Amino acid sequence: MQDQFLRQIDYLRISVTDRCNLRCKYCMPVEGIQWMPHDSILSFEEILRLMKISIQLGFRRFRITGGEPLVRKGILDFLREGAQLPGVEDLMLTTNGMLLPEMAFDLKAAGVHRVNISLDTMDPERFRDNARGGDVSSVIQGIFRSLEAGLNPVKINVVVVRGFNTDELPNFLTLAKQYPLHIRFIELMPIGISSEHRNDFVSIQEMKELLEIQEYHPTQDITGGGPAEYFRPNGFKGSIGFISAMSRHFCGTCNRVRLTADGKLRPCLHSKHEVDLRTSLRNGSTDAMILDRFAKAIWHKPAEHHMNDEAWQGERVMSQIGG
Ligand code: GTP
Ligand code: 5AD
Ligand code: SF4
Repeated sequence: MQDQFLRQIDYLRISVTDRCNLRCKYCMPVEGIQWMPHDSILSFEEILRLMKISIQLGFRRFRITGGEPLVRKGILDFLREGAQLPGVEDLMLTTNGMLLPEMAFDLKAAGVHRVNISLDTMDPERFRDNARGGDVSSVIQGIFRSLEAGLNPVKINVVVVRGFNTDELPNFLTLAKQYPLHIRFIELMPIGISSEHRNDFVSIQEMKELLEIQEYHPTQDITGGGPAEYFRPNGFKGSIGFISAMSRHFCGTCNRVRLTADGKLRPCLHSKHEVDLRTSLRNGSTDAMILDRFAKAIWHKPAEHHMNDEAWQGERVMSQIGG
């Protein structure tokens, strides 16, 4: 359906858990976060009910996020059911990749079309330091298992942070050159814990300077409904993309809303405004009543974010929203 600014909203990002098997520094505070209590998390049945309602509203693309979605028990059965819902045209996942070596083929078999995998550094020490654990070789293995499994396209998310991974940008370029991988360089957004890292922000323009690419060839042939702009330099098997969340925001063409694991519909990533659908799911509301609440939330989706405003402060950390 359209919102009041005539944007076509057909992409639902569903966070199925706030839990994660990593603790990335820009995402979670060192002491961790208070996990949502179990009974506040939507059951898979409740999520499927909301998916069906959203399909009636015209949603066609569904991205499953977390925390880390693959740590939730029963995720494969849920994905299998979700993939079979009439109206689901694109079912995808954003994951840190740690569990992909064993799960990539199962995801494909369950009906998942494609995965976006977070990989900010390829250096084992740096990875462990930034994610406060984990093993980069599992993620890299997971990336190649995903290609083998036929998940397509496979996109890699690289959040660029000053003093952390700026020197590795050329290595990521090599990855896109040699393999059919779509490497997206992402501007750090000041959400939750990241708002303490404003000084570590690197703009897309600076990233392009660091990459030293002579000629960018824009390409539109990469499946996706998101904000990335893609380029395929000559001779590349994959592509590179840029997500300029801060320096040139893309709110005017935004097509998505988010559902948090505790059942709140967030019309904008960056607005504190949320609509509580969990209560409606659990108080006997009919599908028609929930559809009405859902539709009203979309209609009131804010025109744009205000993250560049110094006073802006999010109240959830990124892992509680799902990116
Ligand atoms: P596709 O294009 O469909 O592959 O997905 P995507 O790139 O939108 O999804 P992904 O989960 O991989 O997100 C990549 C980056 O874009 C993350 O840093 C997200 O936080 C960011 N992002 C996704 N949606 C939005 C949005 O609506 N606004 C902003 N500012 N950033 C977003
Ligand atoms: N700014 C930009 N991207 C972020 N992500 C997590 N936190 C931030 C942030 N502050 C990315 C993750 C993941 C995706 C869901 O969002 O790296 O790939
Ligand atoms: Fe987990 Fe992703 Fe947050 Fe890292 S960025 S802690 S992998 S949810």
